[in-house]
Amino acid sequence: MRVVTGADTEKKLAAEAAAGLVEDGMTVGLGTGSTIAFLLPALAARGLSGLRCVATSVATEEQARGLGLPVEDFDRLQRLDIAIDGTDEVTPDGWLIKGGGGAHLREKIVAAAAARFVVVADSSKPVAELRGPVPLELFRFGAASTLARLGPEVVLRDVPPSPDRGVIADYRGEIGNPAALAARLEADPGVAAHGLFPPALVSELFVGRGNGVERTTIRA
Ligand code: A5P
Repeated sequence: MRVVTGADTEKKLAAEAAAGLVEDGMTVGLGTGSTIAFLLPALAARGLSGLRCVATSVATEEQARGLGLPVEDFDRLQRLDIAIDGTDEVTPDGWLIKGGGGAHLREKIVAAAAARFVVVADSSKPVAELRGPVPLELFRFGAASTLARLGPEVVLRDVPPSPDRGVIADYRGEIGNPAALAARLEADPGVAAHGLFPPALVSELFVGRGNGVERTTIRA
């Protein structure tokens, strides 16, 4: 039997609060991870009509469909009203590290398409400064040359390729200024996505703490 931890309670509280933001007829981006595993039943339980959802991973898609949430191809939707996702780390000014589950490429595309991107987390996720590692997805084509260019701070992760056939790796060096590191990673043509999400992408943060939820607006 799976043991329910304090972190699970906090994830569930944050996820339930975020599920309350979704309204009938909305287009909704569904993130990936253990916090989102609590969001999906909370959202399904609301019994909303006319929802159109896109999923950021096969695991989320399968769980959502199993709960009766309508999931469709992202090719069919240009914009999303809201996206809700978890995070590995979040700083007070709203920088995130995502991609512990290797889903950061699709998660970032979904977040960028959303008018409102809400991050849900337990109280272990807020940090004073990002610590890393920073997940990467590398294009499969020329991956060996990309890795050689990025240097020894980037280490392959022993996981299967992403659904987009990308190679999952982690940047394990110093983070320093996250905007500068993000720009450096984006400058390499072999990097399909990195797990640094800037505050400009994040609307709100819901952090479960004890028996409550702290809500912070990052981008109005
Ligand atoms: C998936 O690749 C990640 O970005 C997750 O969203 C992130 O790791 C948070 O996961 P948990 O909710 O499981 O902590």
